[in-house]
Amino acid sequence: MDQNKRPESMERITTPELAEAFISEQVKAVQEQVGNKKVLLALSGGVDSSVVAALLIKAIGKQIVCVHVNHGLMRKGESETVIEVFQNQLDANLIYVDATDRFLDLLAGVSDPESKRKIIGAEFIKVFDEEAAKLDGISFLAQGTIYPDILESIKQAEGKKAVKSHHNVGGLPEEMEMQLVEPIKLLFKDEVRVVGEALGLPHAMVYRQPFPGPGLGVRCLGAITRDRLHALREADAILREEFDNCGLAEKVWQYFIAVPDIKSVGVKDESRYEGWPAIIRAVNTKDAMTATIEEIPYAVLHKITDRITSEVEGINRVLFDLTPKPTGTIEWE
Ligand code: XMP
Repeated sequence: MDQNKRPESMERITTPELAEAFISEQVKAVQEQVGNKKVLLALSGGVDSSVVAALLIKAIGKQIVCVHVNHGLMRKGESETVIEVFQNQLDANLIYVDATDRFLDLLAGVSDPESKRKIIGAEFIKVFDEEAAKLDGISFLAQGTIYPDILESIKQAEGKKAVKSHHNVGGLPEEMEMQLVEPIKLLFKDEVRVVGEALGLPHAMVYRQPFPGPGLGVRCLGAITRDRLHALREADAILREEFDNCGLAEKVWQYFIAVPDIKSVGVKDESRYEGWPAIIRAVNTKDAMTATIEEIPYAVLHKITDRITSEVEGINRVLFDLTPKPTGTIEWE
């Protein structure tokens, strides 16, 4: 049987009961596969790696070593949530690496989007590799591969052309000779979420909107600077808070702020105030291949604009991106 093919008889996991059954089955399978050996996992805090972490903690406890690399391009509060949930609540064996300076130093002056992606992807593997080398007796590598990833790699192997390199930063270092543990590789995203809830992960983590591997790196447009990245992170947090407050967070597929490397003249406290614009993007899609724009009520847009321009240092305008995909892509880079 092809281990990477979902059997037609496999029931779709739609209820907590079905999720519990899947969890028990996988707990057993992981215990059998791993024995008393140790497993390593790159834990980004996204739904897939978080569900794998929680599942493996349930199956093998401290034998799973989770490494969370903060590349300095996370959204506000994300790394803190990973620490709170996995270290404090689930008592995981968690290694937290703050590699912000390494990433931002390497990215300084680099404006080409694909070069930025490559630098972030390669540096992530390097940091992760270094952490793995410090550990003794790791025999397995766990990954949050899900079924669409498998289907996507089949398409790529058939030579379909991609618009962007889109690699996720959780990539497997090729030279690592470890066996893989991929407990959710036959699941679709909606099933992963049902399993995540059954494992007791916080709702916000399980229903987190897709976040690109290179993180805010592809939203701080052009060459990243620390001050503009900081402004982007703060503005993005305000957008998320306001979307949460008015129910849009549950409704919109992906929403975020992008901040380009241009300044315009504005006025603040009766003085000239040069600042960057914050661009709001809020899109709906089924498969991320095409996307439509969410119609945000003007009152919400006004509130977000008022808050961002008054609370975020360096931003003096807020724009709303009305472009569907195509001709835009979802991200700006
Ligand atoms: P685009 O911008 O191509 O994005 O319309 C489609 C979806 O993919 C996400 N995206 C990425 N995800 N690594 C990722 O893991 C990347 O380099 C990357 N670039 C875009 C994007 O957020 C959207 O959900």
